[in-house]
Amino acid sequence: MPKFVAKFCYMSIQNPEKIFQDKVDAEVRIEPKDWMPEKYRQTLIRQISQHAHSEIVGMLPEGNWISRAPSLKRKQILIAKVQDEAGHGLYLYSAAETLGITRDQMYDQLHSGKAKYSSIFNYPTLNWADMGTVGWLVDGAAIMNQVPLCRTSFGPYSRAMIRVCKEESFHQRQGFEALLVLSKGNPDQRAMVQDAIDRWWWPSLMMFGPNDSESLHSEQSMKWKIKRFSNDELRQRFVDMVAEQVKLLGMTLPDPDLKWNEERKHYDFGTINWDEFWNVVNGNGPCNKQRLDARKNAWEAGAWVREAAQAHADKRINRKQKAA
Ligand SMILES: [Fe+2]
Ligand SMILES: [Fe+2]
Repeated sequence: MPKFVAKFCYMSIQNPEKIFQDKVDAEVRIEPKDWMPEKYRQTLIRQISQHAHSEIVGMLPEGNWISRAPSLKRKQILIAKVQDEAGHGLYLYSAAETLGITRDQMYDQLHSGKAKYSSIFNYPTLNWADMGTVGWLVDGAAIMNQVPLCRTSFGPYSRAMIRVCKEESFHQRQGFEALLVLSKGNPDQRAMVQDAIDRWWWPSLMMFGPNDSESLHSEQSMKWKIKRFSNDELRQRFVDMVAEQVKLLGMTLPDPDLKWNEERKHYDFGTINWDEFWNVVNGNGPCNKQRLDARKNAWEAGAWVREAAQAHADKRINRKQKAA
C-alpha cells in the first residue's frame, strides 16, 4: 500500500478527539477550521467573549476621567489607553467570531446579563490616583493572566494576545509612572495614592479568579492548554511582584498578613473576601448596574449608525449590480 494511503487509512480510523489532543500536546495550534471537541469550542467562546466584554466595559471607569485629567500629557496618555482597550475588544470579538458565534449574539449575551465581564470594572474610580492604580494593578494583573495566553492552544486567540500584551505592558508602566509622580508630591497627593491602593488591592487579587480548589473550569482548560498556570500560581506571582514595587512608591498594601516567607521564597498574604467576590460576580457590586446600562444605552443610541451603514452598503451593492 502506498505510504500516503496507509497514513490516510490510519488517520481516518483514529478517534478525532485523540488527534485533537495529540496536536495540543505537541504544541500545534488549533485553527478555526480544524476539528475540535464541542466543549472546547464552547469554553473558548465563553472565555474569549468574556475577555472582549471586559476590554469594552473596562473603558468606562477610565473614560470617566478623560475630561478631568490634570494635564494635556495625562489626557493624551489616558485617551490612547482607552482607545487601546477598544482595540483589544475588537481583536477578541473577531477571534471569538471564528468559532461560529456572531458579534450581535455576543452583545446580546452581554446586555441580557448572560455573559460576564471582569468584576474589577464594577468598582468606581473615585480620584485621579485611581487612574494610575488601575494601570499599575488592574492592567498588571491582566498581564499576569494574559502573557501565558500568548501560547494558548487556539491560534486566533494566541495571536491576538501577543499584541494585546504589548499594549497592556505600556498601560501598566504609565500607571506606575503616574503614581510615582504623585507619590513625590504633597501630603494630599500621597494620601490620594494610598487611598486608591487601599481600595484596588483586594479586587485586583480577585481578578485571578477563585482558589484552585474552587475553580470550575481549570482542570479541563489546563489539559486543553487553553490555560497554562493555575489561578493561585498567577496570583502568587502578582503578589510577589507588587509587594516589591509598592516599596518604590513609599506606600503600603492593605494587608497586615503580607510577609516574605523565606522558606517558600514567596510572600504570604491574607485571606481574600470571597463573599465580596461572589457578590460582585452575581451583579451586586457598586457599579454593575451603571456599567451595564452604559453599554445598553450605547448599543441603542448607536442603532441609527448601524442602520445607516447597512443602507449605504445596500446602495453600493445595488449600484454595482445595475452597472453590471
Ligand atoms: Fe486591554
Ligand atoms: Fe489595558
